[in-house]
Amino acid sequence: MKIIDTHCHLNDDNLLKDLDGVISRAQKVGVEKMIVIGWDKASSELAIKLADQYDFIYAVIGFHPENIFDIDDDILYDTLNLYKHPKVVGIGEIGLDYHWTKEPEKRELQKLYFVKQIEFANKVGLPISIHSREAFNDTLEILKEHRPLHGGVMHCYSGSVEGLNEIFNLGLYIGLDGPVTFTNSKTPKEVAAEVPLDKLVVETDCPYLSPHPLRGTVNEPANISLIIDEIARIRDMSKKHLLDVLYQNSCKLFNL
Ligand code: NI
Repeated sequence: MKIIDTHCHLNDDNLLKDLDGVISRAQKVGVEKMIVIGWDKASSELAIKLADQYDFIYAVIGFHPENIFDIDDDILYDTLNLYKHPKVVGIGEIGLDYHWTKEPEKRELQKLYFVKQIEFANKVGLPISIHSREAFNDTLEILKEHRPLHGGVMHCYSGSVEGLNEIFNLGLYIGLDGPVTFTNSKTPKEVAAEVPLDKLVVETDCPYLSPHPLRGTVNEPANISLIIDEIARIRDMSKKHLLDVLYQNSCKLFNL
């Protein structure tokens, strides 16, 4: 079995404190590669450090929309310029978060740094990992104006089936995670049923979003098999076929 967790935060303290255990449990279920995503300067540097230490770890670097309020261009580009490291495979996670940010002027700042980071990714030839929470329309508008030239993924896609085409028109994949397994989640299951297979990747977003029946615990890459099992069940397809397609998509997305 070959699985790639395309979005995990092994650089989070909750996972770092038992990193050897986290890695060995992941490998036991067939996780072959892990893409560790940064959310600010320190976590991006840590993602690169982990990628240096482990050949199966890759790094994505950048500023999450909730972490742009205290930065300036110096900090931004100091961090993004770490892209030259050979195991940096993308810029992320970047985007808009209107769930946590309500003030219009702060939302404008999120937009500004989203655009700066898309343009940086375009300049250096990397895909992007997009975080969009309760901000779908503004996210799309920015992406249409500043098209990602090297692809990317709508991470933890929480939109409807109807929203998918707009994303695919931009050349992006969607990432599905724990919510697809939640017993009360309708939309993610519909999306899992309808998404064209060649546009789908899976991710844990650990330590967050533990899949059913582990909700409320610290998530980790090993739990990705619960997500894959549920998608295979929803689509009534063989797990082997699904795994093959997901693996190819992930490699294509991040040029692995
Ligand atoms: Ni994340």
